[in-house]
Amino acid sequence: MLAMNYRGPLRVRLDHKPMPEIQHPQDAIVRVTRACICGSDLHLYNGSVPDTRVGMTFGHEFTGVVEEVGSDVHNLKVGDNVLVPFNIACGKCTFCKQGLYGNCHEANPQATAVGGIFGYSHTAGGYNGGQAEYVRVPYADVGPTVIPEGMTLDEAVMLTDVVPTGYQAAEMGGIQPGDTVVVFGAGPVGIMAARCAWLFGAGRVIIIDQIEYRLEFARNYAQCEAYNFRSLEDPVVFIKKTTESLGADVVIDAVGAEAAGNAMQTITGRKTLMQAGSATALHWAINSAKKGGIVSVVGVYGPTDNLVPIGNVVNKGLTIRANQASVKRLLPKLIEHVQNGVIDPKPLLTHHVPLEEVSDAYRIFSEKLDECIKPVLIPPSAKL
Ligand SMILES: NC(=O)c1ccc[n+]([C@@H]2O[C@H](COP(=O)([O-])OP(=O)(O)OC[C@H]3O[C@@H](n4cnc5c(N)ncnc54)[C@H](O)[C@@H]3O)[C@@H](O)[C@H]2O)c1
Ligand SMILES: [Zn+2]
Ligand SMILES: [Zn+2]
Repeated sequence: MLAMNYRGPLRVRLDHKPMPEIQHPQDAIVRVTRACICGSDLHLYNGSVPDTRVGMTFGHEFTGVVEEVGSDVHNLKVGDNVLVPFNIACGKCTFCKQGLYGNCHEANPQATAVGGIFGYSHTAGGYNGGQAEYVRVPYADVGPTVIPEGMTLDEAVMLTDVVPTGYQAAEMGGIQPGDTVVVFGAGPVGIMAARCAWLFGAGRVIIIDQIEYRLEFARNYAQCEAYNFRSLEDPVVFIKKTTESLGADVVIDAVGAEAAGNAMQTITGRKTLMQAGSATALHWAINSAKKGGIVSVVGVYGPTDNLVPIGNVVNKGLTIRANQASVKRLLPKLIEHVQNGVIDPKPLLTHHVPLEEVSDAYRIFSEKLDECIKPVLIPPSAKL
């Protein structure tokens, strides 16, 4: 089969790989019909996630058709059209039982923090992902969800990560009616978080990035204020000034390890890897929150230490909430929101790219070319 193949930092290519096989009675094999590239894949692509092995296939946001099921799979049948949450979760452990599907203790037993994630290095369990024609899906009774009648594949694939992650970012912010919410990062996740902040009753939503076309997209799509931090002297001072010197009630970090805007952070976090990613957006989030405010972090960082202003967290009495999104917990509500048009994720998929052109798709998305918000790969076998 054809599959994306990681060769080393900034090098991904299309290769022929062996077909995945059932390895456990609870596995399914899925023929992929859509597979997105995510900002999270860029951390792998840039070589900043530990234990990302050459030969790995990335891709944690995909839809597909069930081709084969193991003997212990009961909720799925061959031919089902499914969307597959990015978390790999057993459904039975103490964390899954609490709805913390992003922290499953069985799918990635070597780790104390993150659970299993498709195509996300051996740090997240070593599972191959869906940027391929076929993919092995473990715990197939838990994650995969049959795509409801009438829902398009573009809508469905956005429910595997971006919609739930943006929604959970807003949810973790504990937004109260009238709150001012600031979102750092106008990528697909930040734009969706800004859109969802209104659903929780925000009174004002501000998004900050450095890329004009993304800010323009956010203004239209999420009906929010959007500012370029390159044209602000200091984004933290700007937020203070625009909130009567108080700071924002809720601040969301939807940037993560590749944050730009501070040379020291870029050198220590991205160039020399002395810390687990550049913490610029996290700094700005902490410092622009009002006293007693909430910082919600969905931007991904590595597992080691970061140079963050933890003293300010204490002195300001901030609540920081963070996690990988628990897709399965949120799906029933979000499927409804997409079906009745409260959330329309399709416009974020600006680039439909044949799987064969996977390396171009990574370059375009990574370098923010061609006004790209988010690419989705379509394997040749998607039309079978
Ligand atoms: N927690 C989860 O479950 C989860 C799920 C999906 C993605 N993520 C993470 O969310 C983050 C965003 O993902 P995405 O797909 O939107 O990525 P993306 O790369 O498309 O977007 C990131 C945006 O941040 C902007 N940016 C860079 N530095 C900034 C700064 N200092 N301040 C404000 N904006 C800045 C970039 O210009 C870019 O537009 C990533 O870290 C990704 O790994 C987390
Ligand atoms: Zn993702
Ligand atoms: Zn579990």
